[in-house]
Amino acid sequence: MKFKEAPIPKRFYWLVLNTLGFQKAKWESQFRSGYWDQDERSSRTVKLVESLCRGGKIVEFGCGTGTLPGSLAPGTFSHYHGIDRSKEAIRRARANVQMPYVSFECCQMQDWQPSPASLILAEECLYYLTTEEQRAFLAKCLLAIGSTGAIAVMVHSAKRHRRTVETFKECVPKCEMSPFGHRFLMIGRA
Ligand SMILES: C[S@@+](CC[C@H](N)C(=O)[O-])C[C@H]1O[C@@H](n2cnc3c(N)ncnc32)[C@H](O)[C@@H]1O
Repeated sequence: MKFKEAPIPKRFYWLVLNTLGFQKAKWESQFRSGYWDQDERSSRTVKLVESLCRGGKIVEFGCGTGTLPGSLAPGTFSHYHGIDRSKEAIRRARANVQMPYVSFECCQMQDWQPSPASLILAEECLYYLTTEEQRAFLAKCLLAIGSTGAIAVMVHSAKRHRRTVETFKECVPKCEMSPFGHRFLMIGRA
């Protein structure tokens, strides 16, 4: 995800919030300031989602302001459900995207109640969870995708997010891992 430049005092404020454990306040402040504003998703992500979903239901975690559904080719999904922990992100997503079969929800990955999905996407957000939370989240994802769906997780660095990569390997029975441009992609199936 691209982000806008922010003044140093603001970045310092976010760092302090993050360090003190006020992640929710940090995300809300960042979305309110426009730090995460983006017009479209990377073409690589769009192509991947189109190839994995093929007309089924997508659940996207860390959906931000909802840029994905409008970027996808018609027929990619029967339903898109975007989930993010930031109220401000979801407020903007709902205001920006008025498409049929698209919905948004303010919820943390940790609190999500799984429901059937063809594709679960978690781009640049799984590493915000602790290892225990990741394990519990991935177990819910496997339940949701059943025997036919897929989970796609992207991280900007496999080295920096080794903990997340190792947890994915440990929890997901069939997993493929590959570079994804300058980032790293994990695809899992039950
Ligand atoms: C780095 S941004 C990535 C946004 C988008 N997925 C992308 O790659 O362009 C991380 C997003 O995850 C959301 N997020 C962080 N922790 C979360 C959690 N525990 N549950 C749900 N969303 C979370 C943030 O609010 C933010 O929108």
